[in-house]
Amino acid sequence: MKTNSALDYRCFVVLVMATWLELLKYASELIFEAPIDTSKKSIVWVLGGPGSGKGTQCDKIVAKYGFTHLSTGDLLRAEVKSGSERAKCLTAIMERGELVPNEIVLDLLKEAILARAEESKGFLIDGYPREKSQGIAFEENIAPVSVIIYFEASSETLTQRLLGRAASSGRADDNEETIKLRLKTFLDNNDLVLAQYPDKLRRINAERPVDEIFAEVQSILDPLVA
Ligand code: AP5
Repeated sequence: MKTNSALDYRCFVVLVMATWLELLKYASELIFEAPIDTSKKSIVWVLGGPGSGKGTQCDKIVAKYGFTHLSTGDLLRAEVKSGSERAKCLTAIMERGELVPNEIVLDLLKEAILARAEESKGFLIDGYPREKSQGIAFEENIAPVSVIIYFEASSETLTQRLLGRAASSGRADDNEETIKLRLKTFLDNNDLVLAQYPDKLRRINAERPVDEIFAEVQSILDPLVA
C-alpha cells in the first residue's frame, strides 16, 4: 500500500512537471514566434561593397518579383530626416563611413518587416548584415535568411561608380574622403560576414552590365519563387 502511494506521488510529480514543460514550450512559441514564415516568404540578403549595384539590382528584382525592398541605408537616411531621438547620433557616423550601432539598424529593420509582413511576397534586405554579429542578431530576432546574393566588384570600380553618382545623388557620404572610409569599413568586415554562410551564399560578378548581372540574379531567385 505504502509502495503504491509513493509510486502515485512520483507519477503525479512527473505529470505536473510534464504539463509545466508543455505550457512553457507553448508560451515560448507564442513569445518567440518568428515574424516571417520563410517557407512562404523568402528573405534575401543583398550584399556588396558601396556602389556595387545593390540598389540598382533591387529595383529590378522588385519590378519582376514584387518583393519588398528594405535598404538599411535608406531606412537610416529616413530616420535622420525624421529628427527622432535615436537619429541624433546617426548623421555623424554615416558621414564618417562607419557602421551605426546594430540595435538601431535591427530595430528599424524589424519595425519595417513587421509592418509589411502580411502583404509582402518576400523581403530583399539590402545592405545588411555588414558585420558578423548583425547576421546572427537578424536570424535570432527575425527569421533565417533564405539566400544571400553578393555583388562582387573591385575597389576601383566601386570608387568610380560612386564618384560618378556623387554629382546627382545629393548624399552626404558620396564624396572622395567618405567613399574611402566606406570602402575600408566594408573591406574590414566583409570576409567575416560571408564566411558565416557558405551554403546560402551566391557570388555574382558585378563588373558587368546591369542586365547581364540581373540575368544571373534571376537564375538564383526563379527557383526560390517557383
Ligand atoms: P547604403 O546607403 O547602404 O550605402 P552603400 O552600401 O555604401 O551602397 P550604395 O547605396 O551607395 O550603393 P549600391 O550598392 O546600392 O549601388 P547603386 O545601385 O546605388 O549605406 C550608407 C551608410 O549607412 C553606411 O555607410 C553606414 O554608415 C550606414 N549603414 C547602412 N547599413 C548599415 C548596417 N547594416 N549597419 C550599420 N550601418 C549601416 O549603384 C551605384 C552607382 O553605380 C549608381 O550610379 C548606379 O547607376 C551605378 N551602377 C550600378 N550597377 C552598375 C553596373 N553594373 N555597371 C555600371 N554602373 C552601375
